[in-house]
Amino acid sequence: MSRKIMIVCGSPKPKGNTNAIVEQVAAAARSAGASVEVIDAPRLQYVAHGCTACDGCQKSSEYRCVLGDQAADVVARMADVDWIVLATPIYFFAPTAQLRCLTDRMYSLVKFEQGITTCLAGKRLGLIVTAGGGLEDGPASVEDYYQRLAGMMSDKPVASLLVPNVYRADKANIQRQAAAFGQMMAQ
Ligand SMILES: Cc1cc2nc3c(=O)[nH]c(=O)nc-3n(C[C@H](O)[C@H](O)[C@H](O)COP(=O)(O)O)c2cc1C
Repeated sequence: MSRKIMIVCGSPKPKGNTNAIVEQVAAAARSAGASVEVIDAPRLQYVAHGCTACDGCQKSSEYRCVLGDQAADVVARMADVDWIVLATPIYFFAPTAQLRCLTDRMYSLVKFEQGITTCLAGKRLGLIVTAGGGLEDGPASVEDYYQRLAGMMSDKPVASLLVPNVYRADKANIQRQAAAFGQMMAQ
């Protein structure tokens, strides 16, 4: 059966470095038979930017954010895919605020009352990061940060496409890496 991949891009620049690589990854995965949805996180409609800690999701039996906006719909659909891929530029040593506005809502996909139960179990987490600086200027620590989320999902580590020094990197080499990453997820 074909793999289902959701790529959530947290770059505010539609034609920026991160979206360009996301498009290459998505094209390669589609060519290899996967079904791919790309989410433009900064342009979703939000009732609240991020999680309001209302705990409505924890009181409900559903894996769904109760805020009822487009961000809640996207997060609920994560239950239906094989791969959740988070894509972000490094802004100030971290993932963008726009990505976090969506990913903090993933709290609704985990129940904490009796240990941890989650509809994310068995799914894989992917990560695409672009940075003006080197690995130590954000990409490495952001990858570490997302290992915790990957660990809640499966016993496999986050699968990363890290692109440091993006303005000096060889474009053809980035394209090759993006294609390989997309193909790997489609397998
Ligand atoms: C607000 C801001 C903060 C940034 N902070 C970092 C940083 O901490 N480390 C780094 O390596 N690059 C940093 N950069 C460079 C971006 O990570 C890089 O240009 C990235 O590829 C931009 O992706 P985009 O075109 O999708 O926005 C920053 C850029 C901006 C605009």
